[in-house]
Amino acid sequence: MSINKTALIVGASRGIGLAIVKELLERNWNVIGTVRDEKKAGLHELVAKWGDHLKTFILDINLPTQIADVKSQLGEKSLDLLFVNAGVANKNGMQETIGTVSTEEFIRVMVTNALSPMRVLEQLVDKVHPGGVVGAMSSGLGSVAGNETGGNDVYRASKAALNMIMRSFAARHGKDHALLLLAPGWIRTDLGGQQATFSLEDVIGDIVDTILAQEGKTGLRYLDRFGKPVHW
Ligand SMILES: NC(=O)c1ccc[n+]([C@@H]2O[C@H](COP(=O)([O-])OP(=O)(O)OC[C@H]3O[C@@H](n4cnc5c(N)ncnc54)[C@H](OP(=O)(O)O)[C@@H]3O)[C@@H](O)[C@H]2O)c1
Repeated sequence: MSINKTALIVGASRGIGLAIVKELLERNWNVIGTVRDEKKAGLHELVAKWGDHLKTFILDINLPTQIADVKSQLGEKSLDLLFVNAGVANKNGMQETIGTVSTEEFIRVMVTNALSPMRVLEQLVDKVHPGGVVGAMSSGLGSVAGNETGGNDVYRASKAALNMIMRSFAARHGKDHALLLLAPGWIRTDLGGQQATFSLEDVIGDIVDTILAQEGKTGLRYLDRFGKPVHW
C-alpha cells in the first residue's frame, strides 16, 4: 500500500504523540515528529526501522524561535496533517485547585497547553494543503459544559482556553482546512497516570482513525476518539 502522505506531529517523544507517530508509520505515512531532547526521545529508536519515512525535528513549543526553525526546515514541503499533541499537567498534581496554584505554575500550564500549541498552528498552517487536517490535542476536561464535578481546575482551564482560541483560529482558517480538537479519553501515560482507564494500545487505532477521517472536511470539530462531538 502506497500512501505517500506527510504528517507533522508536535510532541512525539513519548506517550500519545509517540504512539500516533508509530501508528501513522504502520499506515504508510511519512512522518516528521518533533521532540525537545533528541537523546531522551523514544522516537530516535524508530528511525533505524523506518529510515526516510521518519524525520525528527527539535521543537520546544514554548520557544518561538524554534517554531520559526521548524518552519524553515520544512521549506517547500506540503503537509497533509499538522497535529500538536504536546501538553502538560500541573506539577503539584491534577487535584491542585485555583486557590492553591502558584501564579508561575498557572502561567506555565496555560502557556504550554493553550498559547504555544496555537502559536505552532498559526505559524505552520500555511504548510498544510487545502483540505488537510490541522489539529491539537484537547481533552474532555476542556469542555465547559461537561464540568459538573470540578477538579483539575488549572488543566481544565488550559484546555478550555485552547478550545476557545481554536474557535477564533477557525473563523480565519476553517474554510480552507479540516480543524480538529481531540479528546482522546483517559489514557495510561506519564500525564494520565497509571490509574487511567485505557492503555495506549486500547485507543491509538481509534485516535488515528478519527484524525484521518477529518481529511477534506473543512470547519472545526471538537471530537472524542470515536469521532463523536464533545459538548463545548
Ligand atoms: N493521557 C491522558 O489521559 C490524556 C487525556 C486527555 C488529553 N491528553 C493530552 O494528550 C497530550 C499528550 O499527553 P500524554 O498523556 O501523552 O502525556 P505525556 O506522556 O506526558 O507526553 C507529553 C508530551 O508533550 C511533550 N511536551 C510537553 N511540553 C512540551 C513543550 N514545551 N514543547 C514540546 N513538547 C512538549 C512531551 O515532550 P518531553 O518528552 O520533551 O517532555 C511529551 O512528548 C497532551 O496534550 C495531554 O494534555 C492526555
